[in-house]
Amino acid sequence: MRTLITNIGELTTNVELDRDRCGTVHDAAVLIEGGRIAWVGAASEAPDADEVVDAGGRAVIPGFVDSHSHLVFGGDRAAEFEARMAGQKYAAGGIRSTVAATRAASDDELRARLRGFIHEMLAQGTTTVEIKSGYGLSVADEERLVRLAAEVTPEVTFLGAHVVPAEYADHADDYVDLVVGPMLDACAPHAKWIDVFCETGAFTVPQSRRVLEAGIARGLAPRVHASQLGPGEGVRLAVELGAASVDHGTYLTDDDVTALAASDTVLTLLPGVEFSTRQPYPDARRLIDAGVTVALACDTNPGSSFTSSMPFCIAIAVRDMGMTPAEAVWAATAGGAAALRRDDVGVIAPGARADLVMLDAPTRIHLAYRPGVPLVERVWKDGAPVV
Ligand code: NIG
Ligand code: FE
Repeated sequence: MRTLITNIGELTTNVELDRDRCGTVHDAAVLIEGGRIAWVGAASEAPDADEVVDAGGRAVIPGFVDSHSHLVFGGDRAAEFEARMAGQKYAAGGIRSTVAATRAASDDELRARLRGFIHEMLAQGTTTVEIKSGYGLSVADEERLVRLAAEVTPEVTFLGAHVVPAEYADHADDYVDLVVGPMLDACAPHAKWIDVFCETGAFTVPQSRRVLEAGIARGLAPRVHASQLGPGEGVRLAVELGAASVDHGTYLTDDDVTALAASDTVLTLLPGVEFSTRQPYPDARRLIDAGVTVALACDTNPGSSFTSSMPFCIAIAVRDMGMTPAEAVWAATAGGAAALRRDDVGVIAPGARADLVMLDAPTRIHLAYRPGVPLVERVWKDGAPVV
């Protein structure tokens, strides 16, 4: 079956042809075959196909690659959000209330919720998602969370070191022993990535190093939560260990920026967190101008960012973080792919997965220009229409 999407007013390929790196082609067409992109070019030169979809001049972009989420959890924390909006500060400890709700939920309850989020994300154009554990914090519960996550994505991250659970409050190093020992043994078979929350109130730099190095020794690749609540050494640890991405980066020092710019580590910005915790937005312009590779992700979780909308994050990044619309769309697609070290998603090029989004708009600019408006009209994942 060969499907041709033609009469595309603005096609974002992310194949670097232009200054914006978005590889824009106007009056374009894309041929899909066997779940992959088979051909990309001018509509006037399009090959024959079994099925033709007329985009009517609309914009088409790669499916969003959301490289940071926490989708397996029980309960929510709406009351905590309400209190924050009334002036209370966000702290890492809130994670523990979601741990209690998650432990109390059955596999089927967690699975149903997880599948609901995947559906919600697809409807908003997200075709690749990374999912972390981190609300189990016992060997059996963390194993459950990575196992359930692996049912819906290959991008599974073991985050047993999310916060020290209440039962280890006075002996955190014993909890780290558990994470790098039996918990890692149980979770590594289901995971691709190892992550740690390196922050005041979560794990120290030496503890974070232990966790990451243990994961690396088990064949997992590192990614790190750092500099969310204040400056710290987590970014430099991530760079030193060759992490694919370091995420949050709300409080970066000049040394952090210099280290990132000289590295292969992506800095993943999570604007939903600053929105929902009323923290200052990080300056993406400073990062991009320094040569750092920037990704955008939602960080969907019940505490710090309960949005699953990449268009929402793009709109904030453009309005309040100094990104151009083209940079923000790149960061939400190719940037996310770089943060997951993937070259088969985030681009529209022959051989890549046929993950595409057709917008009900003539250009990608509308994603920021029309915030809050559901512009995702059609979505293909692996060549199949899903929305
Ligand atoms: O990415 N930073 C740590 N973990 C999540 C927050 C989780 C929570 O508050 O439940 C985050 O923001
Ligand atoms: Fe997170």
